Amino acid sequence: METMKRTVTCGELTKEHIGRSVILNGWVHRNRNHGGIHFINLRDRYGITQVVIDEDASEELKELTKGLKFEYCIAVKGIVKERPESMVNPDMATGSIEIAAEEILILSRCEVLPFMVDEKSDAKEDLRLRYRYLDLRSFGMQRKIALRHEVAFATREYLISRGFYEIETPTLIKSTPEGARDFLVPSRINAGKVFALPQSPQLFKQILMVSGFDKYFQIARCYRDEDARGDRQLEFTQIDIEMSFVSAEDVYSLTEELMGYIFRKSLQFELPAKFQRLTYREAMNRYGSDKPDLRFDLEFKDFNEIAKKSDFGVFKGAVEQGGSVKTLVVPGCAGYSRKQISDLEETAKIYGAKGLAWMKVADGGLEGGISKFFHPLASEITDTLGAKPGDLLLFVADTWSTACTSLGAIRNRLGKDLELADPNRFEFLWIVDYPLFKWDNDEKKWAPAHHMFTMPQDRFIDSMEDNPGEVIGNLYDLVLNGNEIASGSIRCHDPEIQKRIFRIVGFSEEEAEKRFGFLLESFRYGPPPHGGIAPGLDRLVMIMTGESTIREVIPFPKNTMGISPMDNSPSNVDPLLIKDLGLSWLPKEKEQEK
Ligand code: AMO
Ligand code: AMP
Repeated sequence: METMKRTVTCGELTKEHIGRSVILNGWVHRNRNHGGIHFINLRDRYGITQVVIDEDASEELKELTKGLKFEYCIAVKGIVKERPESMVNPDMATGSIEIAAEEILILSRCEVLPFMVDEKSDAKEDLRLRYRYLDLRSFGMQRKIALRHEVAFATREYLISRGFYEIETPTLIKSTPEGARDFLVPSRINAGKVFALPQSPQLFKQILMVSGFDKYFQIARCYRDEDARGDRQLEFTQIDIEMSFVSAEDVYSLTEELMGYIFRKSLQFELPAKFQRLTYREAMNRYGSDKPDLRFDLEFKDFNEIAKKSDFGVFKGAVEQGGSVKTLVVPGCAGYSRKQISDLEETAKIYGAKGLAWMKVADGGLEGGISKFFHPLASEITDTLGAKPGDLLLFVADTWSTACTSLGAIRNRLGKDLELADPNRFEFLWIVDYPLFKWDNDEKKWAPAHHMFTMPQDRFIDSMEDNPGEVIGNLYDLVLNGNEIASGSIRCHDPEIQKRIFRIVGFSEEEAEKRFGFLLESFRYGPPPHGGIAPGLDRLVMIMTGESTIREVIPFPKNTMGISPMDNSPSNVDPLLIKDLGLSWLPKEKEQEK
């Protein structure tokens, strides 16, 4: 190998190098025989170079070339030649040259491939994950992993230039559930006790603020035992940030600048200096989602005033009972069939709507669906809604929240079905002014809407207990193209306010002490006011690469069943290991029933 070590990569040779003797190392991407002349496309991370073994080559070389199969790893020595005019490939960086091979060395052989290493493989995802090392060889995957690296690098570059320290926090910690289930790690030396893997570095980054490191970040691995859906993984990565002596405005501008830097450095894309903002209430009221995709309009219209004047009992009743009638004007979709509309209705019902009412706007007025109740009000309706002939009108009447959420699901679905979102746009949006508490209908009590260490906004502090549902927290999310990509808050560093929050959510002081005692104790030693945010790196890169699942941008993800088909984890372990940990498995439910 020593004599056949590469002198150049497969992506760098151009006309300028003609005549040079070079050595390339790479994989056999293609091997074609055209009338006795062999063409090998040799591939590495940097590109593809065409290697030619022509008729004049030695018999030995020709024989060896014939035996080269897909993905053999080889070394090629040869001379850089200009390609004949007819074979120039302007789409390839190396498209104007080829290598006239003099010597080829097989570095390693490859078995029959389970799928071709291609830009866009049509292999099933589980097969790709089973042979992830082959899947990752494709240029498509290499580009995504490279972009992920660029994003992480730009993050470090920007934050360090702004005076942040990158500090590690432990991954074996005390179990302090943050919303999802903890992954537990039994301790052998302290048998019967467990560590948990962190759902995020939240408590530790706050403690680092108490320690005086006033600008912290970490590209941190987080673990949550939840169902692995498209945008969720059991382990994922956050760009975790915390700062002392800041307001929410400082966190917004830092994040905007960070995103601006990341997009400029890694995609050469210029983002606006400031991102739009909507309050949580506005976002729900206008788009029925706290992560609306603003690459398209489809904003709800209010129908309450007209509903009151109509004879349609369902609408009238909803408004009289304090609910809402929300409307979506879908431009140009009056041609929708009953089947298409009833499909939409099914979607609305998943989100609690009792039905989905509709009408169509025609040249002469309103048609179909519930139009018979509204003929006298037709022109008022089209004026108020700004609807034109050819538009489809969709309505949900319910409590404000159900009407918004279910019509929001329809908005999302129409966005996809009608391909309303421009895939080349990046639309960032802050959602601010989240409620601090939400009513837990199952437990019949108030629960923290995000986590318990968030500061209420000043104007609510004195009267939090009067109406917890009205209290707005210093809480924010960052949304990109309809995905929640970051979440954060200004934290509660005041032990008295903290105690009141615990009381509202029915959390006893003993319980708080048991779970978060170490954080609360640190807050007795001069904690600075602080706050932060955590963008999800996987989701960010997913959107930057135009993918729809984070599995596409994670080198070794788990599949939708939470399994890694390559190393076949999770797996059984030697019973002795279990015994060492002082554990025993409970019999499975079925066996118990027997
Ligand atoms: P939160 O739980 O909202 O906040 O997470 C922050 C961001 O992390 C990403 N994310 C995920 N990505 C992939 N798979 C998952 N299972 C997953 N869960 C979350 C999302 C999300 O917006 N400690 C707080 C942050 C803070 O307040 O500073 C936290 O973890 O992009
Ligand atoms: P009905 O009078 O129950 O036959 O309903 C007439 C139409 O109104 C049907 O298309 C229903 O899907 C729809 N509908 C019923 N309840 C609601 C509701 N709460 N909001 C919107 N549409 C509804």
